[in-house]
Amino acid sequence: MSENIVAIQLDGKEINLPVVIGTENEKALDIAKLRAESGFITLDTGYKNTGATSSAITFLNGEEGILHYRGYDIADLAENASFTEVSYLLLYGELPSKDQLANFEASLATNSRLPEGFADLQKAFPSEAHPMSQLAAGICLLSNYYKRNTSDATDENIHTILGAFAPVAANIQRNFLNKDFVSSPGKGLVYDFLAMAFDEEPDEVIVDAMDKLLILHADHEQNCSTSTVRMVGSSHANIFASITGGINALWGPLHGGANQSVLEMLEAIKADGGNIKKYVAKAKDKDDPFRLMGFGHRVYKNFDPRAKIIKRAADNVLNKLGVKDETLSIAKKLEEIALSDSYFVERNLYPNVDFYSGIIYKAIGFPTEMFTVLFALGRIPGWVSNWKEMRDRKEPIGRPRQVYTGATLRKYTPISER
Ligand code: CMC
Repeated sequence: MSENIVAIQLDGKEINLPVVIGTENEKALDIAKLRAESGFITLDTGYKNTGATSSAITFLNGEEGILHYRGYDIADLAENASFTEVSYLLLYGELPSKDQLANFEASLATNSRLPEGFADLQKAFPSEAHPMSQLAAGICLLSNYYKRNTSDATDENIHTILGAFAPVAANIQRNFLNKDFVSSPGKGLVYDFLAMAFDEEPDEVIVDAMDKLLILHADHEQNCSTSTVRMVGSSHANIFASITGGINALWGPLHGGANQSVLEMLEAIKADGGNIKKYVAKAKDKDDPFRLMGFGHRVYKNFDPRAKIIKRAADNVLNKLGVKDETLSIAKKLEEIALSDSYFVERNLYPNVDFYSGIIYKAIGFPTEMFTVLFALGRIPGWVSNWKEMRDRKEPIGRPRQVYTGATLRKYTPISER
């Protein structure tokens, strides 16, 4: 990062702000000393224009639809790498050698054996509880099982949560479906997850599709859940508590919860006789709260590169599995109609990562309520990599400021006088 200075005038005083330039030429004004020097803060509700940190993990250019993990293009990784390789890359900055990958996989496998008694707690969750609620509670509960300091960014802490995440998620699916838990066949993270979540060992087509989907979800720079993980972790909360914050942020329908909402929307359109135009009109109507789920993105103002890959994968997986699903053709028609409509064109609203992923998850056999858990399973390497980066750099506690707009000082009135 190189630095030069920009001078601005505030209340007649010249303030010098350092310019920070990233390796992909992104430019930022460093305003850390602005308030001390001028009395001003910046205001940016929703962080539309605020960099909360600098990061060397993921590069995203929303105007051009570019997504790189540690310098590697997402399409390159989705085509050629495995999810565990990508997890290693995100965490440590480089692709692993054969030995490094084997050691990493062995460590994750060791940590996939959940602490004694933990599964009983998972079974005690009401099976009808939403899987994201079970995930947040489960991951937070895990923190009770370790005597060591789990707020340090050690490999031991990081591998513990990475290894445990998939079996915790698989148990959630089984609990949700009122099935007994099963043990892992020990054939790798993605294979084991599928084998534990379902009643039989998975087909190669399904393992490959799942691996690719997890890679596409693995990181996405400072989104709502990742910033939450960094924010919670900045108070030196332990890794389980920090990740639980991210899980809860992901659950919302404007973020990861959109994948469940997309499928529910497509099913609703199907049940409504496939009347796509009606739903497009509803999405455009400012008096109707309905939005086209799986459309639009805060950063992408061009195609989401992940959506392009997932759309192709959906066709491929459904063909290979011999599944005919009307929701896929509804999704394609909906995309076509929306992309030729001036409302969506003018606002740069394109399908995002959640638009087609649910169709693949459904074809594999996951219940709709599990979809956001699958997003979380993909995102866990991104969350821990950001958490590690934040702790390794000794970033200060996150504490935004505000502009106060409430009542000015007034006197307490006794209740008898109110
Ligand atoms: N359907 C209809 N109109 C939309 C949509 C949509 N899906 N998304 C944005 N708009 C309109 C919005 O009403 C606004 O119009 P106007 O300028 O006339 O007021 C304009 O587009 C800009 O939208 P915004 O809400 O100011 O944009 P944002 O950056 O704050 O929100 C978003 C981004 C993803 C929350 C939003 O596009 C959305 O709600 N999409 C549907 C939910 C969704 O698919 N979320 C998944 C996001 S990708 C994966 C992830 O992050 O987890």
